[in-house]
Amino acid sequence: MGKPAKNESSATKHKKPKPEAPKTARGIALEAVVRIERDGAYANLLLQQMLQNSPLETRDRGFVTELVYGSTRMKRACDYLVDRFIADPPPVEARAALRLGAYQLVFLGTPPHAAVNDTVAATPHKFRGLVNAVLRKVIGAPVTYPTDAIALSYPDWLFDLFIAQFGDEDGRRMMAAMNEPAEVVERDDGYRQDRSSQMVSALVTGTRIADICAAPGGKSTAIASAQRAGAFESDDVAGSEPFVAASDRRLSRARLVASNTGRLDVDNVTTVVADGRFLPYRPGSFDTVLVDAPCTGLGALRRRADARWRIGAEDAERLSSLQVELVLAAQDLVAVGGEIIYSVCTITDAESLDVGKRLAELAPGLEPVDDFPEGWERHGVGARLLPDAHNDGMAVIRFRKT
Ligand SMILES: C[S@@+](CC[C@H](N)C(=O)[O-])C[C@H]1O[C@@H](n2cnc3c(N)ncnc32)[C@H](O)[C@@H]1O
Repeated sequence: MGKPAKNESSATKHKKPKPEAPKTARGIALEAVVRIERDGAYANLLLQQMLQNSPLETRDRGFVTELVYGSTRMKRACDYLVDRFIADPPPVEARAALRLGAYQLVFLGTPPHAAVNDTVAATPHKFRGLVNAVLRKVIGAPVTYPTDAIALSYPDWLFDLFIAQFGDEDGRRMMAAMNEPAEVVERDDGYRQDRSSQMVSALVTGTRIADICAAPGGKSTAIASAQRAGAFESDDVAGSEPFVAASDRRLSRARLVASNTGRLDVDNVTTVVADGRFLPYRPGSFDTVLVDAPCTGLGALRRRADARWRIGAEDAERLSSLQVELVLAAQDLVAVGGEIIYSVCTITDAESLDVGKRLAELAPGLEPVDDFPEGWERHGVGARLLPDAHNDGMAVIRFRKT
């Protein structure tokens, strides 16, 4: 019967490349880890964007998040586990696949055949042999980490800082707690905000409130909603409508405040783009000023998976000067008798106790107020929440202007 073979073979020759198979959860996780490693992408922003555009089911999205955040937090430990079996540093795609595989095998408790086979299947062809061979070695090998900083997967300087500050046992406990996934909490209005931040917002009451480091607006919207619900009465300015004047130095971030207030239908927040040290308000215009200052974020390392690798020992120094300046500016904005709430999502002394000490010298008119609801642990003139008990660590100081 004829010779169809020729036609078939020429058809095969010019066959269009097969459309790419949709990415699996591990395939997406691998791409994310490569981009974090190679391009310095922020894990949370990148993942949000990648998952938004993916057809994955909710459960698989959760798995991608766990893989990417977990392997990023545990990167130092994971890399140690695989580096025992490779001679030279691997190219970035192979590194990412090895890290993901080791994370599943050692920290996530994924069954070995799935951890290896499915990770290898998501790896570019040319690295599959390497990744397969190394991960199989990781499965059977006993683990003795050379240092506790490697075992807990923290940079040495940060490991030493936590131990110096909290002592051996508590320091390790804090670090181990921040290797666990962050709790996801939704407020009644649907906004996702960790419980510790909600505890900070709950400290802020008054009719005329300024939130001078406001983006993306988590606290501004919580405070404004509480104002609207009449959660606290105005005893400050008779006849004045309650409002929150939210401002942030960066336009792109101030836009997030505006979009969140719009989305949540909160109409008593105004948004301004301005540096909190140079705000265009009349002195004494507010009952309460919230200074939720930029900080190292060392209490929120579960949530910011890549932060421990970005922050340097010198950052706390630079940020604490800015924190002091912001509180000094807030002192002018607040009326006599009004309050300043200073808060940061870190738990180290440089950005809490030491800021309190510098302000005691520079602003004798600011009197620390020792009034914190249950749950807060007193620390110096302020209070804090620790990440082992509260998921996210925070430090606050409450001042009254005399
Ligand atoms: C910890 S975040 C604020 C989080 C926010 N309060 C919330 O609950 O959603 C700190 C913010 O301070 C802003 N910032 C940094 N330097 C600033 C400055 N000099 N003046 C005002 N805002 C500043 C940053 O852009 C960042 O959005």
